[in-house]
Amino acid sequence: MPDFTNQVAFITGAGSGIGRATALAFAKAGARVVVAELNEVAGQETVDQIQQLGSEALFVSCDVAHADQINAAVQKTVDTYGRLDIGINNAGIGGKYARLTEQTNLDFEQMMAVNVGGVFYGMQAQIRQMLTQKDGDHPVRDHPARGKIVNVSSIAGVRGMPMGALYSASKHAVIGLTRTAALEYVRRHIRINAVCPVYTHSAMVDELVREVPDMEEKMRRRIPIGRLGEPEEIAQAILWLCSDDNDFVTGQAIQLDGGMTAG
Ligand SMILES: NC(=O)c1ccc[n+]([C@@H]2O[C@H](COP(=O)([O-])OP(=O)(O)OC[C@H]3O[C@@H](n4cnc5c(N)ncnc54)[C@H](O)[C@@H]3O)[C@@H](O)[C@H]2O)c1
Repeated sequence: MPDFTNQVAFITGAGSGIGRATALAFAKAGARVVVAELNEVAGQETVDQIQQLGSEALFVSCDVAHADQINAAVQKTVDTYGRLDIGINNAGIGGKYARLTEQTNLDFEQMMAVNVGGVFYGMQAQIRQMLTQKDGDHPVRDHPARGKIVNVSSIAGVRGMPMGALYSASKHAVIGLTRTAALEYVRRHIRINAVCPVYTHSAMVDELVREVPDMEEKMRRRIPIGRLGEPEEIAQAILWLCSDDNDFVTGQAIQLDGGMTAG
């Protein structure tokens, strides 16, 4: 398991699902974790779970659709822990399960504000802070990453998703932001990658399963491995991408999909 002792990880949407599993995994690996979350009860619950492990965590109330709130959350992180090593832009919404012609302007605005705005504002705040920090000490390399960012896209970010055009568009945009930012900041020693999970057990998927008859079975049939992903599996990939042993990996959109896109 990678070691993140003394590193500070800022995770949006860490009150549930993939974000919470990632927060717990970073805490177990020694990081101090900032839970930036819209839902205060859920966010505080993640902090409590981390503290029960004997690790340090901070809850910051934050709606990622607003740049000023992310800026304030990153500032609070730095005021509390003195630095920021890892940014995980995970908060997202699934939106309405409907055809393109049934999606409204408001659906469009909300989807873009949270799923694209959240990643854009998150990276801006995180990178600005990381650029003020010195490169870390590393026993082998002259210039280890001074910051690592992982954005949570989706398999819908690399393929079309019937009944989810806006979601798919937003997740394609996350990959565009990731690749471009990775190129812009690679020489400043900030590594930026994305993960693209297939259907994974979480509140978001539970909602879809409740709404659409036979949905879970349909999901399972589309995934060659024959099951949905677990949030902990996505979390492990995110930790791997942030590990200091991985300094050569940047600008990637890693597909975590039980084989779906292999065929
Ligand atoms: N579960 C899946 O099948 C799946 C697949 C691919 C990608 N994803 C992506 O993974 C990420 C996490 O989703 P999840 O499945 O864990 O869902 P989830 O609903 O369990 O968790 C999402 C969390 O984000 C928070 N959140 C929502 N809007 C927010 C906002 N504006 N500001 C701050 N926090 C906000 C929610 O309160 C919640 O705690 C999302 O970006 C989602 O699109 C999920």
